Amino acid sequence: MVETAFSIRHAVPGDAEAITRVHDISWRYAYRGIMPGAELERMIARRGPRWWESAIMRGSGLLVVEFDHAIVGYATYGRNRVPSMPYSGEIFEIYLLPECHGLGFGRRLFNAARNELAEHGYLSTIVWALADNEKALSFYRRLGGLPVRKAEERFGNDKLARVAFGFVSAPVR
Ligand SMILES: CC(C)(COP(=O)(O)OP(=O)(O)OC[C@H]1O[C@@H](n2cnc3c(N)ncnc32)[C@H](O)[C@@H]1OP(=O)(O)O)[C@@H](O)C(=O)NCCC(=O)NCCS
Repeated sequence: MVETAFSIRHAVPGDAEAITRVHDISWRYAYRGIMPGAELERMIARRGPRWWESAIMRGSGLLVVEFDHAIVGYATYGRNRVPSMPYSGEIFEIYLLPECHGLGFGRRLFNAARNELAEHGYLSTIVWALADNEKALSFYRRLGGLPVRKAEERFGNDKLARVAFGFVSAPVR
């Protein structure tokens, strides 16, 4: 019998170490050469196991992807932080280990987060990406996102462009 090796579930406090590892590896992979190095290190260092455990204990929206009994990705989500924009929900972060890219996990995790948001009444969703994160931009476009806003954010001494993608169609079950 073949066991299902893939699942998406809510994070529990015991996941904090594993999410810290995924965060560390995936952020270095995504942002090296895009963000100033010192700033990237600072952002990674802030997110140790205690930070993640506290986010889980607070009940923050946090899903993890398990593959072959290991956590290989996570997504965080909640109410849109820019209320002037006509999107009720937001996916704050979605990150997978590099060896798990291109396998359809990101699409499934994104849809799962959108469904969680919809269950809380947030039917439309916004997601922000750094404009230089070409892979993320392609991913959001492919999933049907429309670029709806540009903004700049300061990282150390650098100002980096960000793009927001809006999703208004019903999330896929
Ligand atoms: C972005 C990310 C979550 C996408 O997850 P993924 O599992 O690699 O993507 P999927 O395999 O589910 O792909 C979904 C669709 O997007 C497309 N896509 C994904 N990455 C792509 C890329 N780099 N270029 C072009 N298309 C891409 C796929 O072709 C697929 O389309 P299809 O189903 O019609 O064939 C993942 O690559 C990742 O963690 N990247 C690093 C972290 C990051 O940048 N996160 C986003 C921060 S804003």
